[in-house]
Amino acid sequence: MTFEHWTLDRDAEGIAWATLDEAGASANTLGLAVMEELAGILDQLALRPPSGLVIRSGKAAGFIAGANIEEFTRIDSAEAARALVQRGWTLFGRLAVADYPTLALIRGHCLGGGLELALACRYRITVDEPGTRLALPEVMLGIYPAWGGMQRLPQLIGPAAALDLMLTGKGVDAVKARRLGLADDCVPPRVMDNAARVMLLSRPAPRRLPLLQRLLNGPLRGIVAGKARKQVAVKARPEHYPAPYAILDVWANHGGNALAVPVASPSSLESILRSPTARNLIRVFFLQERLKAFGKDADFKPRRVHVIGAGVMGGDIAAECALRGMIVTIQDQSVERIAPAVARAAKRFERKFRGKPREARFALDRLIPDPAGHGVARADVIIEAIFENLEAKRALFADIERRARPDALLASNTSSLRIADIADVLANPGRLVGIHFFNPVAVMPLVEVVRTRCTSDEVARHTAAFVRRLDKLPLPVQDAPGFLVNAVLGPYMYEALRCVDEGLAPETIDAALTAFGMPMGPIELVDTVGLDIAVAAGKALAGAHAELPRALAERVADGRLGKKTGQGFYAWPGGKVSKPAAGAVPADLAARIVAPLLAASQACVSGGVVADADLADAGVIFGTGFAPFTGGPLNFVRSSRAAD
Ligand code: NAI
Repeated sequence: MTFEHWTLDRDAEGIAWATLDEAGASANTLGLAVMEELAGILDQLALRPPSGLVIRSGKAAGFIAGANIEEFTRIDSAEAARALVQRGWTLFGRLAVADYPTLALIRGHCLGGGLELALACRYRITVDEPGTRLALPEVMLGIYPAWGGMQRLPQLIGPAAALDLMLTGKGVDAVKARRLGLADDCVPPRVMDNAARVMLLSRPAPRRLPLLQRLLNGPLRGIVAGKARKQVAVKARPEHYPAPYAILDVWANHGGNALAVPVASPSSLESILRSPTARNLIRVFFLQERLKAFGKDADFKPRRVHVIGAGVMGGDIAAECALRGMIVTIQDQSVERIAPAVARAAKRFERKFRGKPREARFALDRLIPDPAGHGVARADVIIEAIFENLEAKRALFADIERRARPDALLASNTSSLRIADIADVLANPGRLVGIHFFNPVAVMPLVEVVRTRCTSDEVARHTAAFVRRLDKLPLPVQDAPGFLVNAVLGPYMYEALRCVDEGLAPETIDAALTAFGMPMGPIELVDTVGLDIAVAAGKALAGAHAELPRALAERVADGRLGKKTGQGFYAWPGGKVSKPAAGAVPADLAARIVAPLLAASQACVSGGVVADADLADAGVIFGTGFAPFTGGPLNFVRSSRAAD
């Protein structure tokens, strides 16, 4: 049998090397054809058993990125869902009982179904490289690892560590995988093949869990699951996110075998795979892929970045650039103003490179205080993040344009000014682009790339490519007030503030919206961004004479600006919010407050601020955290209409 996606070789010692290099794809996924060929390989090996089998990847990108998600989207019946699960479960079950030793050689990403395949092998070796990452991220797509992962992972590393990985979807690197017992060894790339060979030939006894872990994974499962369920409940409601609850149920009550769960159960694979949440989260996954693709076609590899304004935003933007390997000069009115940004960056690098102090040092060395602005002349990208003042920004860019390289990207991080108003001071206004980061920069995945009528295609493409270098998601938007994200957040926050004016308690309003699925209530959000900023944003959106909610105006007047002053709608002792218990939540409260956000999202699409409804959904989810299980505001409107 010849294979399209695999190659199978036998070496002199009788070891079979199965190498997956999926045809026509940049990363390996476990679609139907790849799985059928793997079954063919097992058939062949059964006829003449090798002394061992190594499964590895032929792709530079990594081992296996997971199941083929496109195939999920084509599941149109309960039978199809069951067949898809059955296929992987059976195949990996065969691999697990092969009568020769098997080993997964894991270099780069090893995700979802890819990790389940590796778990079905007798041994796993991870290759110690920065890109090596093992995870079961199914839960983030609203589904679960049904090809044996829910059974084998707890057996291998114990239920606490396994549930932690399965319920959060988070990944571990090569070294941590070894420490957890997920990998039997962790080796540098130059010895990886040899390490695999030696392990297969020496056949060490597979790792056995300590007795306590075996008990926790056996008779004491119910207790472990009960505790875990309580922790999950703090983060996710079952009606919004059923998958983590289902994982606990399948593990505790069905031995990790989703095929054994009765169809009618909310944990059954039919219920999970066909749930609106899974459909919407898979949609969000593809939206994210779409954002990631912006700037892909640009041949732009910025090495030097100059940031002007070392405040909250500029300081953190500079740190992100240094973190990703770029050389960054950072300018402000004095060295004293730059120092806090550098101190913050040092902390961030320490956390990011825990245990690797040299890496942290190198990153900090790349961040160069530059009060005189010498960096402007050499930079590939120049980002302005000074005070929100039009005249100051215009003066700054007029000067920058004279000193910058003609091909340097000129970008402003303004959140409420029109890019065109800043750009028209330039000899070539088409050079200026908006690059709107969100606060906190390290955490927020979205960056709006703002075009004016004159911004050139190349500038927009280069900006998107730069945003991708920071591993953020670029969203192309037009130069309209509030762009997309603030244009939808503003009316939402103001509606919530009007409810405070009407006498509702802030904590009750927040409770209504977190119950709806928002990561944070709108009043806490106002406190977090700052009440003065909320006023400025409101004016930018609705005009200088717009009527401010009373509750907002009063607090701003007496300096209660939110988290940064220790008091806003809530008290913030030690920088942490202190909220009274919420009262009973009126039935229509969440719908009332979300309605202006939905309307504004629609208006941004009709007004051409974003190119289509999908991009609006993507922007609002990644820019505001809008309940991802809904699939985004416009998807939510569509599905609510369909349900009526
Ligand atoms: P900030 O007040 O923390 O920092 C501004 C910094 O710019 C100060 O350190 C100031 O000394 C410096 N600066 C002012 N004029 C300068 C000049 N001519 N040359 C060099 N440095 C100068 O302000 P923040 O919050 O960082 O905002 C900066 C920009 O980012 C604004 O345009 C704002 O609209 C935008 N933005 C702010 C967000 C936020 O949540 N704070 C979110 C997204 C965008």
